[in-house]
Amino acid sequence: MIASLGPTVDPAVAADLGPIAELAARTFPLACPPDLPRASIDAFIDRHLSAGALRVHLDTPGHDLLAARTPDGRLVGYALLVDGIEMDPTCADQILHRPTVGISKLYVDPGHHGSGFAALVLDDVVRRCVGRGVRGLWLATNVANIRARRFYARQGFVERGTRTFDVGGVSNTDVVYERALSGTAAGPG
Ligand SMILES: CC(C)(COP(=O)(O)OP(=O)(O)OC[C@H]1O[C@@H](n2cnc3c(N)ncnc32)[C@H](O)[C@@H]1OP(=O)(O)O)[C@@H](O)C(=O)NCCC(=O)NCCS
Repeated sequence: MIASLGPTVDPAVAADLGPIAELAARTFPLACPPDLPRASIDAFIDRHLSAGALRVHLDTPGHDLLAARTPDGRLVGYALLVDGIEMDPTCADQILHRPTVGISKLYVDPGHHGSGFAALVLDDVVRRCVGRGVRGLWLATNVANIRARRFYARQGFVERGTRTFDVGGVSNTDVVYERALSGTAAGPG
């Protein structure tokens, strides 16, 4: 099913940080493998997803924190884009298309999963990046995050390899994905 009215996606401002942090705390556990200790998940949330931690992205060049809202103005998704391979330089060899942007985070409220909302947020990300000459998007998601992996595969991302990602002191295996961008935002490049 495709959402009848699309989301609005805008650069986050300071007033968005509290609601984004709340959404992030609720949705980050959904991206984690079931055997990851809750204490590790909470440590990651405290360190990286508090309003204070997210504020850094508003002031960091090359970082774009985006707030995604329903047509009636509810914040139900967010994304964090990071230029180049800064997100994880160990993945540099896996990223074939340059210039590239890393999708550090793409999270949607569970009430909107399966609605097409996430795909429309990703479409917006693609349009933004194509509009500034970016040739590829890349990301990494936990090997056990089957929902996200199916979503990204359907959205034209291909597997490039793996990386190790620390969540609260526990090493996890992520799958690295890349999607080439063509000159239009009409579909996978
Ligand atoms: C990842 C995310 C943005 C995708 O949005 P979504 O609306 O859930 O995506 P869709 O429903 O369009 O696609 C999900 C796919 O997983 C499938 N799926 C759903 N639940 C599943 C499950 N428990 N097991 C296996 N597959 C599942 C769906 O059938 C669909 O696959 P299909 O298109 O081949 O049928 C969203 O699920 C989300 O925010 N998840 C939590 C945070 C997260 O994991 N973010 C990504 C971190 S990098």
